[in-house]
Amino acid sequence: MIAIYPGSFDPITLGHLDIIQRGSRLFEGVIVAVLRNPNKIPLFTIQQRLEQIRLTTKHLPNVEVDSFDGLTVNYAQVRQAQVLIRGLRAVSDFEIELQMAHTNKTLSTQIETVFLATSNEYSFLSSSVVKEIARFGGSIDHLVPPHIALDIYQCYNHNSQISNPTITETVPHLQSIPMEVPTEKLRQQEA
Ligand code: PNS
Repeated sequence: MIAIYPGSFDPITLGHLDIIQRGSRLFEGVIVAVLRNPNKIPLFTIQQRLEQIRLTTKHLPNVEVDSFDGLTVNYAQVRQAQVLIRGLRAVSDFEIELQMAHTNKTLSTQIETVFLATSNEYSFLSSSVVKEIARFGGSIDHLVPPHIALDIYQCYNHNSQISNPTITETVPHLQSIPMEVPTEKLRQQEA
């Protein structure tokens, strides 16, 4: 059975990776599908996100990475997938996710949504949280794969050493280095 794991993945986090890894053990194949959403101003382009996710999941032979637009159930049908995977972190997710699952069921009775409870250590984690921490100079090394952290630090024009309060305390001149890029105003709207 083939499952689709749809989402924005802007950027992929360790919480997403946890769901992908567990999904790949449950299903014959998992397609991580990045929504091309014209209504959002993303931090990373679709191409960048596809590359980031491919690198993150390269150790999982039954995982494919793709992008799509339009309805997720239509994409699932085109890819001959029977399942949509979604992660659940908290009750607040459940309300939105249940509504989405019910909506998708009205669009296609053939597609089932399967919820995986997010592992405890990632129950607070979202792409928005990662971007918020990075924007204000904090370390995100424990929240995303190392190569994604580097990409994000580059976007916000800082590195993890500068963001570490214990280091900035001992090297005060680092605190004066600007942390934001001009396009940041746009990105704040999206977070
Ligand atoms: O990572 P996200 O932003 O929580 O993912 C949301 C996503 C992409 C799964 C959802 O917005 C979606 O499926 N969008 C495609 C449009 C669609 O199918 N809408 C009907 C279901 S509400």
